[in-house]
Amino acid sequence: MGMLDGKVVLITGSAGGMGRVAALIFAREGAKIVGSDVKTDLNDETVGLVRDAGGEMTGIAPIDLTDPEQARQLVEGAVDAYGGLDVVYNNAAMQRFGPMPDFSVEDWRATEAGELDIPFFVSKFAWPHLVRRGGGVIINVASEAGMIAGSNPPMVAHTAANAGVIGMTRQLALEGAPDGIRAVAISPGPVLTPASDRDLGDNQALRDAVTSKTLLKRFARPEEIVELAAFLASDRASYITGANYPVDGGASAW
Ligand SMILES: NC(=O)c1ccc[n+]([C@@H]2O[C@H](COP(=O)([O-])OP(=O)(O)OC[C@H]3O[C@@H](n4cnc5c(N)ncnc54)[C@H](O)[C@@H]3O)[C@@H](O)[C@H]2O)c1
Repeated sequence: MGMLDGKVVLITGSAGGMGRVAALIFAREGAKIVGSDVKTDLNDETVGLVRDAGGEMTGIAPIDLTDPEQARQLVEGAVDAYGGLDVVYNNAAMQRFGPMPDFSVEDWRATEAGELDIPFFVSKFAWPHLVRRGGGVIINVASEAGMIAGSNPPMVAHTAANAGVIGMTRQLALEGAPDGIRAVAISPGPVLTPASDRDLGDNQALRDAVTSKTLLKRFARPEEIVELAAFLASDRASYITGANYPVDGGASAW
């Protein structure tokens, strides 16, 4: 028996990083996965990995979720794939970093679109399907940057967007409760994914600067974020809504 047996889960940003690991872990727990990304080849690779592991997954790509019409199409496609929708895992995001006041208006707008518009659009179009199903779960992947400021690198738009995601989650929980919809945020600290590992390269000083704010003095592995997400998506978490869970190695504790 998996924690998510019989549930249909829509995962955004499933081409790599934590979204790919989420597809594997949610499928391991018995969910049927619809995974989407703007990157088609890598998303197809995730579908192959899930199926090879004995899981069920449909890929829908390319989808650019900053476009509300494409977000709507994705949700409709997800509902059609397995006849309904139980869980939305809002993982996809795109952000820009840079110091004030060099940070341009365009950088700001791109980051708010990539981090705040995407989970709103997907949640908005999924909402009536969750209501029709008698309820469901929306999990928004925010960031420690929604709770504390950060200097490695400077991140004005990222902090604003993720504080917005945490606030939006509370509001979705309030408005969704009468219809059986739970909404929860997870706020990761620094996570080492294949992409971030490649970007950091052999710059040990930068790696140390990034992890110095954590109490554990290390990056998280994607699994350390996603195992919590699988629990929160399951009926075992049936009394949890409106909450934000830092999974940040203690970075926001001091
Ligand atoms: N990696 C970290 O250290 C860290 C820390 C805190 C929070 N987060 C958050 O966790 C989530 C996943 O992070 P990750 O490190 O695995 O990121 P990632 O960049 O590896 O994955 C994000 C995925 O979203 C996709 N995506 C981006 N823009 C899109 C768009 N417009 N439409 C559709 N798909 C799009 C990307 O192609 C990518 O596959 C993100 O929301 C991120 O902000 C990450």
